[in-house]
Amino acid sequence: MSFPTHRMRRLRRTQRLRNLVRETRLTPESMIYPIFVCPGSNVRKEIGSMPGQYNLSVDQAVNVAREAEKAGIAGIILFGIPKEKDELGSDCYSDDGIVQEALRAIRENVRDLLLVTDICLCEYTSHGHCGLIRHGDVENDATLQLLAESALTHVRAGADMVAPSDMMDGRVMAIRHKLDAEGFSGIPVMAYSAKYASAFYGPFREAAGSAPQFGDRRSYQMDPPNAREALREIQLDVDEGADIVMVKPALAYLDIIARAREAFDVPLAAYQVSGEYAMIEAAARNGWIDRERIIIESATAIKRAGADIILTYYALELARLLS
Ligand code: PBG
Repeated sequence: MSFPTHRMRRLRRTQRLRNLVRETRLTPESMIYPIFVCPGSNVRKEIGSMPGQYNLSVDQAVNVAREAEKAGIAGIILFGIPKEKDELGSDCYSDDGIVQEALRAIRENVRDLLLVTDICLCEYTSHGHCGLIRHGDVENDATLQLLAESALTHVRAGADMVAPSDMMDGRVMAIRHKLDAEGFSGIPVMAYSAKYASAFYGPFREAAGSAPQFGDRRSYQMDPPNAREALREIQLDVDEGADIVMVKPALAYLDIIARAREAFDVPLAAYQVSGEYAMIEAAARNGWIDRERIIIESATAIKRAGADIILTYYALELARLLS
């Protein structure tokens, strides 16, 4: 036998061979595209720190939803920018709220695209926190009822799935009970289970105008150095009835994704967040990286780490690149 016996390069010789032995495959079917819906009509306002992403009025959001359906991605997740924000985040659980209105319009125009909604008060509150404020602190239990009410109004308006991202304790159970009691036991909950207090959300807060007006989110979102705690968060959400669990952000938390994949058998999602998008776009604009290869390589890494589902601002573009 000639030396060396094992030649790893044999299976790397041609694209056909590399495709044959590829361990991780990206598919548009496992991707969800986040969109920001705002008041008005014919609005398509580019987000400064997220070039290529927009605040969309309902009519424009309908067009994007049609595009998403055609591209074959799984679905879209909607974030709302209300006309007015208030102390209680009322627009979030109003039947006439911006997301509810968008859902009704989109549902009329697309048939089987999954319509997912983000459930959280921060885009709707004047103070920018994810729950009710009492005595200068975010109140957990009083917030739960409002989150559950938001989920119900979203589902009534046409949402196929709800995704709580607020990080209050007990929200999954509160939402599950509410939906079950109102006849929506068939609607799945995708929980942002291991959601870290991350600087990677910066551009999103510009997009949604949701930066906290005082303090920060560290008393409810997870501390970035913690990994075991993420597994506890996920376990609790599974126990409370979450159908899909999520790790967020993605690229800086691949270890968490991998550990969650090992420890749980439920479908696992990961959110490639606004800051991850902004960094790629900024470097690409400077001509410092090969943009398309980085987009594919990043999504592949998230999937390889163990995510079944990727929420990404690149969903539409990936669908194009992969076809
Ligand atoms: C709402 C929410 C946020 C994101 C998703 N849902 C912002 C935050 O928690 O501050 C971030 C998404 C992104 O950065 O792309 N709580």
